[in-house]
Amino acid sequence: MFVTTSFQPRQQEREEAERLAQQLGVPLIPRERNSLAELFARLGKSRAIIVRKQDWRYEDKQGNVFFFHPNMSILRIKHLLQGKSDSLIDSSGITVGDEVLDCTLGMGADAIVSSFTVGETGRVVGLESEPAIAAIVKQGLATYDSKRLAVNAAMRRIEVIQTDYLRYLQQCPDRSFDYVYFDPMFRQTIKESSAMQSLRPLANLAPVTQEAIDEAVRVARKAVLLKERVKSGEFERLGFTVEKKASNFAWGVIRVEGER
Ligand SMILES: C[S@@+](CC[C@H](N)C(=O)[O-])C[C@H]1O[C@@H](n2cnc3c(N)ncnc32)[C@H](O)[C@@H]1O
Repeated sequence: MFVTTSFQPRQQEREEAERLAQQLGVPLIPRERNSLAELFARLGKSRAIIVRKQDWRYEDKQGNVFFFHPNMSILRIKHLLQGKSDSLIDSSGITVGDEVLDCTLGMGADAIVSSFTVGETGRVVGLESEPAIAAIVKQGLATYDSKRLAVNAAMRRIEVIQTDYLRYLQQCPDRSFDYVYFDPMFRQTIKESSAMQSLRPLANLAPVTQEAIDEAVRVARKAVLLKERVKSGEFERLGFTVEKKASNFAWGVIRVEGER
């Protein structure tokens, strides 16, 4: 992996690229007049993050591309504003003022919808183990202009932390978030959204462990949530009750409220 810029970068992109390369611990390669294919060939590398004026963009030799976009969160927020339902919000009961820990930030769509729902008095922390995804999505959430004030405000409020969720959960005090949720990568890729397909080459594909769920139950005040395919067997393996089924996935819930 290396970091470069678009052609003729401004001072701002140069500085962002320098900081990003340092943060990721990878070389910063001046773009000059080279195509990306030329840089891959010359450096013998196959993955790059390109710092551009409009966004930070991952590209690899195989043609995979990943950049931040709020995806379905814009439509989901529009639906919520119209009084329509959302499977995450309905299954969880997440509401104004709640503190939410999103253990699998990914593209950030669920975190944006949660952040919109909890509002200014709530809090959403998004964890992402993969440094490239965390950096690109953090930058996107801080700068992307969706042309909708409510969506922009929801994006800006999300706190992004690059870390493994188990490590983070282990250092959280008991009952420190209202909701803790997991949306791991599906192991079968059939019918995956194009956003998730673009994330896949960079993503952590490890299954959720019982140890992580036990920690999440300790940390949650109200519930732990898991998004999975209905027939994945993961809800049964990890002790979740399926409360909300959507077209090709479901939200499982472990309610912890009132149990202690
Ligand atoms: C399916 S995506 C999440 C999509 C997200 N809910 C959204 O709305 O865009 C799963 C993400 O969790 C990340 N992930 C997987 N295991 C993780 C772990 N142990 N700690 C932190 N992040 C993890 C993956 O790298 C991937 O980006």
